[in-house]
Amino acid sequence: MKFAVFISGNGTNLQAIIDACKRGHIKSRLALVVSTNTTAFGLKRAQKAGITTFVFESKNYTNPQSIDRDMAIQLKKEKIDFIVLAGYMRMLTRYFIKQYHRKILNIHPALLPSFKGTHGIKDAFTYGAKVTGVTVHFADDKMDHGPIILQEPLKIYEHDTLAALEPRIHKLEHKLYPKAISLFEQHRLKIKGRRVTILDAPPAAHAK
Ligand code: GRF
Repeated sequence: MKFAVFISGNGTNLQAIIDACKRGHIKSRLALVVSTNTTAFGLKRAQKAGITTFVFESKNYTNPQSIDRDMAIQLKKEKIDFIVLAGYMRMLTRYFIKQYHRKILNIHPALLPSFKGTHGIKDAFTYGAKVTGVTVHFADDKMDHGPIILQEPLKIYEHDTLAALEPRIHKLEHKLYPKAISLFEQHRLKIKGRRVTILDAPPAAHAK
């Protein structure tokens, strides 16, 4: 299968995915890196790894629907089978989500449904949570909402600081995301309503 990673910033998750592809932990081909932010450092990571980048600059569009329409056209042209959102800070439109129904993965740096939104790590810390973590889920048309694929907790210690917590969360993200992508590409995720079951082996239709 071929997939695209959508980014907006630094792209450390993208880097973890690139590395997992190189090591053969992810078998699908990372064919495209997409952003709406020309200055996203992740674009440099992609170029260094020889991956094609597409930038859809918001200023060239009058509304979010037209960006998403253009993105969907390009992705279909490139025969992209699934999409991985890695720090992509724009909400995708319902139209786009429909084009890739249950084929868009997202990562969130907290245990959903707690601490949704752009500051998941900080929000959990300042709330005084004793446990936070990382969630990988299917994206739907609501923010940080679709069915949960993998979730792993992380302790917040008595004398923890936000600065100390952040790198632990990111380290966990970099471990969890490639694992979720690998399960997805092997067709080992069975979705029923909100529940995602991890199958021991691909179903017969996808068995080699
Ligand atoms: C990650 O913490 C991710 O969970 C959140 O945005 C951050 C992106 O970091 N959605 P990076 O660009 O992958 O370094």
